[in-house]
Amino acid sequence: MSPDTITLGRPDDWHLHLRDGAALRAVLPHTAERFARAIVMPNLKPPVTTTALAADYRRRILEARPTGSDFEPLMTLYLTDQTSPAEIDRACDSGFIHGCKLYPAGATTHSDSGVTDLARIEPVLARMAERGMVLQVHGEVTRDAVDVFDREARFIDELLAPLAARQPRLRIVFEHVTSRAAVEFVRGSRDGIAATLTPQHLLHNRNALFVGGLRPHFYCLPVLKTESDRAALLEAATSGDPRFFLGTDSAPHARHLKEHACGCAGMYSAHAALELYAEAFDSVGALDRLDGFAHRFGADFYGLPRNAGTVTLHRIRQDVPTSFHFGDGELVPMRAGERLAWTLQPKSATATAMRR
Ligand code: NCD
Ligand code: ZN
Repeated sequence: MSPDTITLGRPDDWHLHLRDGAALRAVLPHTAERFARAIVMPNLKPPVTTTALAADYRRRILEARPTGSDFEPLMTLYLTDQTSPAEIDRACDSGFIHGCKLYPAGATTHSDSGVTDLARIEPVLARMAERGMVLQVHGEVTRDAVDVFDREARFIDELLAPLAARQPRLRIVFEHVTSRAAVEFVRGSRDGIAATLTPQHLLHNRNALFVGGLRPHFYCLPVLKTESDRAALLEAATSGDPRFFLGTDSAPHARHLKEHACGCAGMYSAHAALELYAEAFDSVGALDRLDGFAHRFGADFYGLPRNAGTVTLHRIRQDVPTSFHFGDGELVPMRAGERLAWTLQPKSATATAMRR
């Protein structure tokens, strides 16, 4: 029988979009309540391309933390055709930058300044390998001729596998993997290659985009794939293999920009991230594997200490609001207006329980 309560080591989110300004202030409390640390994506407008910009962004995140929160943002740099090896040195020396993000130009939201040709950043990648800086990869080719559902698989064959071989010491996180091909690639690859998995790709297949009509709130990139892909992802996540760990890719966009003729890519899951992962793991009777996925494997891969402390989830149903405030607009979260099977024990309750 599955347990009704599960206690995990305090987890981290290894792939998160926090945005900036009022949007940042709206979403950060959800993440800070659940996670000790998060790898913060650099795709702001303009992007976070230098150590100096990352330092400023980090300060704004720290200032936006709810009172009493010890949440720690782990910063990243956005690689462009112009990034220099000297910038990698500055990032490594900073102590607060934990990865550099490769967005193939045009692959996703705010990726227009991304890398147009890997050859242009080969010296940068070599320096990252030398210094042990993690490369985080958005793994999709961008050519119009390639079917949108095949872009991840094509990226592996055309770019990622050759890169992993060319830079054998480069540590790579294949972000938000969505396909069986990606799972097989990571399993068969050399040491130093891992992948993050989102709640939406563990819980939904691409049919979710079209149930009874077009569903913009299920649109994210890489796009949801087939049921066979979802099964492969869930099997990888729950297998206990330390190369697969938690990264929500929670990516908030205002409602009016999602419910739009050209709707933005990104699903918001930070309000219920652990609860959603618990549901996915519980669906295959693997709740005992959630601690490795959420608390241990990511920290070990990034060479950071595992967090002290715990969080507890109860099998108590909760209703998700239909929307949250989001600056001047509204944010429609995953499961809006529906129910979740699990509820996070509030931190204050944990503290009270510990004092008793
Ligand atoms: C992300 C965003 O909105 O910033 N969107 C998404 O669909 N995941 C960008 C990204 O991670 O691809
Ligand atoms: Zn992302």
